[in-house]
Amino acid sequence: SAPRVTPTTSGIRVAQSMLLSGLISFNQIAEKASEADIVRWRSGPRQVFAITHPDYIEHVLRKHADRYMKSVEYQLVSTVLGRSLFTDDGETWQRHRTMLNPFFSRRQLNGMIDLMVDPIERYVADLDSHGDGFELEMVSDMTMLTLDVVGTALFGRELGSVAKTMGHAVTTGLRLGEVAARLTLVAAPPAWAVRLLGHTVHYAPLLPPPLDRAQFTMRAIDRMVDDVLESREADDESVDLLGMLLRARDQEGTLTTQRVRDEAVTFMIAGHETTANGMAWMWYLLALNGWARERMLEEVDTVLGGRTPTAKDVPLLPWTSACFQEALRYFSPIWVVPRTAIVEDEIDGHRIPKGSTVLVPVNAVHHDPRFWDDPQRFDPTRFLPEHARDHHRFAYLPFGAGQRICIGRTFALMEATLIAAMMSQRFAFEAVPGHPVEPEATLTLRPRRGVRMIARRRP
Ligand code: HEM
Repeated sequence: SAPRVTPTTSGIRVAQSMLLSGLISFNQIAEKASEADIVRWRSGPRQVFAITHPDYIEHVLRKHADRYMKSVEYQLVSTVLGRSLFTDDGETWQRHRTMLNPFFSRRQLNGMIDLMVDPIERYVADLDSHGDGFELEMVSDMTMLTLDVVGTALFGRELGSVAKTMGHAVTTGLRLGEVAARLTLVAAPPAWAVRLLGHTVHYAPLLPPPLDRAQFTMRAIDRMVDDVLESREADDESVDLLGMLLRARDQEGTLTTQRVRDEAVTFMIAGHETTANGMAWMWYLLALNGWARERMLEEVDTVLGGRTPTAKDVPLLPWTSACFQEALRYFSPIWVVPRTAIVEDEIDGHRIPKGSTVLVPVNAVHHDPRFWDDPQRFDPTRFLPEHARDHHRFAYLPFGAGQRICIGRTFALMEATLIAAMMSQRFAFEAVPGHPVEPEATLTLRPRRGVRMIARRRP
């Protein structure tokens, strides 16, 4: 397979500032959000802005999205994932997004619901074999499960397990790169400090993160995907996402093999860890809020009884879906949405020089009391259909917003509702006492040291 570009120095610099801004924004910008809607600091010659007001966010992500691009930060991701919807910009992105959008509609996804349900059934059967009152760690369980679901949805039943192994390898590769990058930061502590608008943050240059390991893993994965592609006929009619990618066409033609491969790997990576962390947070938050969990169990029993859900059942489980959406508000797995200004811009009187990085610290927005009533309270009621319009559209950003909003959001919500319902048919989950869970902002916002839970079998 074709070698991928090596990370450029600018890519590395950006990675460092992202990691650093991670430390900064999660610990501090989040607290400062109510004091300032724009926080600015300096990263070498570049200025970095964090914007937390929904109107500013709408300005950058929707109204004036043409003044910004995604790719400076994402260049780094493309060294690993290749060029795909996630990393592309401009006309190429637009063309591919238009081609692929229809495959993620609810109607299309309904057609592949069995592919989602199968791996969940296998997982619940496995849980069942453990009896009652056993302990499990939700982050790793949900990660393996969501890999299986997205892998099966992509490659079909026969290849789902290959996909799972391969996805696991990618995650490990990415994790290694990320851990090494973090160690670099710890080993060479930067002299940084955070101030509000008008002040700056300085920090020392750091060593590059060793992305080569992640790239090595990705090349192995490329070869595996190539094998899968070779085994498919040109007139493949499978209902899975790979079949759809192979059939996608517009007036300019179909996707190249490399593009199909990169999009497939992107769906696996973009689609599993986010959902897995969201699920782990949801189980934890439900364990702390027994009233919400009871209501979910009641809904699942009333709608499904003991039977396997079908596509028609998903909209009949609004509370179950709302629990996941509220968990995504409470702890948004994608905790920062970054953009680069490609021209000079002005946001409400603040000059944004060309080349600046603009960050949206999602969790700060999700906990801003100006836009959320009692934001520290876990309350899925906010996401019941009748309350869908109660919040500012740009104050809820787990899937981003505007043109670049997550293409897989309907997939994720459907998958999460199915997982929550099918697990709840058999078990209620409690938190293991004495193991408080803390959020840790790395590539995604994850529970540090996982979420240990006890599975209680339901009568
Ligand atoms: C984009 C979050 C599930 C595929 C995004 C973005 C966010 C996000 C925040 C926008 C990033 C930006 O604008 O900079 C999530 C969360 C998920 C989830 C929280 C689960 C709870 C999925 C799934 C898939 C997927 C299941 C695919 C099967 C993608 C792709 C993009 C994307 C391809 C790039 C879209 C584009 O720019 O056109 N996701 N995602 N995601 N997501 Fe998701």
